[in-house]
Amino acid sequence: MIQISPSLLSADFSILDEEVKRITEAGADMLHLDVMDGRFVPNITFGAPIIKAIRKSSGIVFDVHLMIDEPIRYIDDFAKAGADYISFHAEATDKIEETLLRIKSHGVKAALAIKPHTNPAIIKDYLPLLDMVLIMTVEPGFGGQSLIESALDNARYVKKMIEESGRNILIEADGGIKASNARLVSEAGVEVLVAGSAVFCADDYQKAIADIRTAATL
Ligand code: DX5
Ligand code: ZN
Repeated sequence: MIQISPSLLSADFSILDEEVKRITEAGADMLHLDVMDGRFVPNITFGAPIIKAIRKSSGIVFDVHLMIDEPIRYIDDFAKAGADYISFHAEATDKIEETLLRIKSHGVKAALAIKPHTNPAIIKDYLPLLDMVLIMTVEPGFGGQSLIESALDNARYVKKMIEESGRNILIEADGGIKASNARLVSEAGVEVLVAGSAVFCADDYQKAIADIRTAATL
């Protein structure tokens, strides 16, 4: 089943409570929260205190995407802030297993993310600990970029690996997704589609979400 996870990165930060409520009512399945540290990626966004604050605005599934170096340092904070899923980057740490175990120790779902040019084979060893794999379809750092089509090969590769493992693991894709390419993305095996600008820059969030969902499901 296709799920849509709008990225708060393109929302109006001056009215976050309202934006979170609006997106929940518009039928989003999850809310994607992009945490950037200015080191792993050349941009800084927000951290656990903001996530804790907006947790009061909605019961929607919080899909926290950490784009930070050595994420293990902050897993406890993001779990306590109310994350339902925590994704971190395979490129950001040598302590992948330890970090996944730390996420799971809080009862939070764990996901490993890879950038468009990372070899997806790195994921294989960690499949037993994963609830989701996040395939970046742009270079992480900024919203509003164009989808890198070749990154969908990573989704196809991971899909095959997951099928062979017999485990139930979601594949999420993130970056440059909109109604016009949603079908291409879902055909690659992706079930969770992140969309920032395509949803939050639209006047009608409900229609924007429905359009992406319909296009991906056709
Ligand atoms: C990029 C972020 C994405 C981004 C998606 O580093 O991880 O979640 O905000 O935004 P769009 O859909 O505008 O590419
Ligand atoms: Zn993201």
